[in-house]
Amino acid sequence: NLPKKVKIVEVGPRDGLQNEKEPVSAAAKIELVDRLSRAGFANIEAAAFVSPKWVPQMASSSEVMAGITRRPGTIYSALVPNLQGFESALASKADEVVIFGAASEAFSQKNINCSIAESIARFEPVARAAKDHGLRLRGSISTAFGCPYQGEVPLDAVADVVRRMRDLGCDEIDIADTIGVATPRKTQEVMLRAAREFPLESLSGHFHDTYGQALANIYASLEVGVAIFHSSVSGLGGCPYAKGATGNVATEDVLYMMNGLGIETGVDLDQVVDAGLFISQQLGRKGVSRAGNAIAAK
Ligand code: HMG
Ligand code: MG
Repeated sequence: NLPKKVKIVEVGPRDGLQNEKEPVSAAAKIELVDRLSRAGFANIEAAAFVSPKWVPQMASSSEVMAGITRRPGTIYSALVPNLQGFESALASKADEVVIFGAASEAFSQKNINCSIAESIARFEPVARAAKDHGLRLRGSISTAFGCPYQGEVPLDAVADVVRRMRDLGCDEIDIADTIGVATPRKTQEVMLRAAREFPLESLSGHFHDTYGQALANIYASLEVGVAIFHSSVSGLGGCPYAKGATGNVATEDVLYMMNGLGIETGVDLDQVVDAGLFISQQLGRKGVSRAGNAIAAK
């Protein structure tokens, strides 16, 4: 009894590229986003208005947002850690802003340089401003399945941040496996716990594939009714503040699975494969999507 339709949020241009050591030109990012738009995504995470000292690769976010061709109906999202980031996102006409916190104190400190409580206080004016300007508001919760610094993360800690993000007025909340340690039963446990605090239909699964479990975790999430998933074209990525973390689950792999299950995504797999080949060529290395590479080799 799986959902008949899911929303795939393409996060490659942000989560995928943020960790690249060599600068990727704004022109290449724009071309990537445009190709992904044409493939049919309803939501693309295209920018992060964060400190360029912390994440240099995202410094071109304004330029990228100004250069893309927007597909009517697609939501273009931007990460914002504070009001300064929000102002930039607003100026760049983002449709949705993403406040990002964590379920573990240690990760919150490393990633955004403050405690969980401080982060929520910092998000309050951002959330209010988003509402005032009619922007969608999404909350992302890192390390919901485990933390690179403190290890185990209790279910109640995840539930607590879900509640706080809900109280800030989030339209959607991401349950993120930053370091890819989740396994299917644990995934269901966390998702069902989060769903006691926030509507299941507005919860999303953000899985990194570090331990090769991401597709299994997505299937497990489908089984309990989750219908929004994040993925990265060509499996790009990693988090600058989670050492050794690999990319998000590859979009091509997720689409191949959804197509096989007869679950509607609205996204054209072949065009995503082409977008993956494009960005791989820009980065000078082969993509890591198994389905993408198999299709490209045909
Ligand atoms: P801080 O140093 O505590 O902040 O950083 P600050 O307010 O003292 O500012 C320091 C400097 O940064 C100042 O510049 C500010 O102007 C500037 P200076 O005076 O030194 O020249 N600054 C900014 N510049 C541009 N845009 C802004 C901004 N804010 C301050 N918005 C801060 C705190 C939150 C800013 C910093 O820690 C930061 O930017 N962190 C971002 C880290 C990040 O982007 N991580 C990756 C994204 S999260 C992720 O990947 C996880 C996710 O995928 C889910 C998952 O997989 O887990 C979402
Ligand atoms: Mg991530």
